[in-house]
Amino acid sequence: MLERVRLDYSNLLVADEGIMEEIHGIRKRITCAVAGMRKKKESNLQGFFRLPYQTEEKEDIKIHARYIKENFENFVVVGIGGSALGNRFLHRALNHPYYNMLSWEERKGCPRIFVLDSIDTDYLAGLLDILDLKKTAFNIITKSGGTSETMANFMVIRDLLERMVGRERAPEHITVTTDRERGSLLKIAREKGYRTFYIPQNVGGRYSVLSPVGLLSAAVSGIDIDGLLEGASDMAERCSKENPFNNPALLAAIFQYLAYRRGKNISVVMPYSEFLDGFGDWYCQLWAESLGKTRDAESTGQTPVKAVGARDQHSLLQLFLDGPDDKIYTLLEVENRDRDFEIPRQDMGDKGVNYLSGNSVGKLLNSEFRATGYVLTKRKRMNYRLILPHISSNTIGQLVFLYMYMTAYAGELLGIDAFNQPAVEEGKTITYGLMNREGYEDRAEEMLNWEKSVKRVYV
Ligand code: PA5
Repeated sequence: MLERVRLDYSNLLVADEGIMEEIHGIRKRITCAVAGMRKKKESNLQGFFRLPYQTEEKEDIKIHARYIKENFENFVVVGIGGSALGNRFLHRALNHPYYNMLSWEERKGCPRIFVLDSIDTDYLAGLLDILDLKKTAFNIITKSGGTSETMANFMVIRDLLERMVGRERAPEHITVTTDRERGSLLKIAREKGYRTFYIPQNVGGRYSVLSPVGLLSAAVSGIDIDGLLEGASDMAERCSKENPFNNPALLAAIFQYLAYRRGKNISVVMPYSEFLDGFGDWYCQLWAESLGKTRDAESTGQTPVKAVGARDQHSLLQLFLDGPDDKIYTLLEVENRDRDFEIPRQDMGDKGVNYLSGNSVGKLLNSEFRATGYVLTKRKRMNYRLILPHISSNTIGQLVFLYMYMTAYAGELLGIDAFNQPAVEEGKTITYGLMNREGYEDRAEEMLNWEKSVKRVYV
């Protein structure tokens, strides 16, 4: 039986009695947002909608994942942003929390998984310290095919690999995931004969986790990618409904939009699950890069914040409850866990602790989740809940699609393009100049002159 992810907005109705009226007040905008999404789908300008139905690619991914499993002990994803965060999210959500520390048998013959999305050189060195390159496969992921962080890491790794296993055998260790038609990595891959997977041209980095970008490393670690895509497809259907009260992504986007209009510039997601910590990071990138835009000289976008229950109750919750009322909260609950711990009935000699006896650790987490929703609501802080019946490939597929649709709907409501990221290009071109890339000299010069003109002040 399909376990459906549910959006529970009852807290919001209590915290904010006027919300239904406000939704009614923007119904024209909602109709336009729905029409805008329909147009995007029909025109094929955006392709993430189609990811659940990529049957051929899925079978190729499974075959290649089998090859990796049979030949390697480690699998390293090399990418950044949308070409890395989704991989980490799926791995953390669906594999054992200490997966890489399990034995080969416990991992059912699947390789250890690493995600390298950093150019901190000591961090890279640390990873290389622990990897036996002869037993390691690398998946170089970049949609544009030339992202400097990814390519720098790749060049270092390939050189080491070629020295270790020889130039002829190095390609056996390298899989490339990139655009089908353009980019430096595609050219290199063709020259060297690397096994290549393609990211559909109309799917942007942060919307690509359910393309070969995220599916290969998932399949290599034994995650059920059919389940992920089935969950995504079920959610895609729900998120295509025109009535927001039948469409969880549209309704959540409306709540976020109304919150934003009232000056709630911060959007907090707070899963009560360690397994969804990576989801929080993935969400932050999706929300920030998609919605942080300038339109008609006006800035838009909410700052996404990730908090994890229960640990952030001892860190951020005080601010959430008593600090500025500039946030909207999504509390995520996992209803059922596979394992729980009864807290043994025992006299600890103090009633400040004894109350725990006979309860379970799971009940404690659930009680804290409910209590947080209640105290936020009592203080009239905008919050709603997302319920995952269980963490499975299917519910995670649903969650991915819920959030991608929700972000896209939020973009439509705000009247911005949720699929580009024009502002980050400027810093990139200056970096190219500083790294002596031909044609970018003037970009570096501009910044170097500015640096000279700035009087540094230290304390
Ligand atoms: O969402 C995006 O488009 C970006 O965050 C990219 O994923 C990120 O910049 C990496 O780009 P690429 O995959 O081209 O290396």
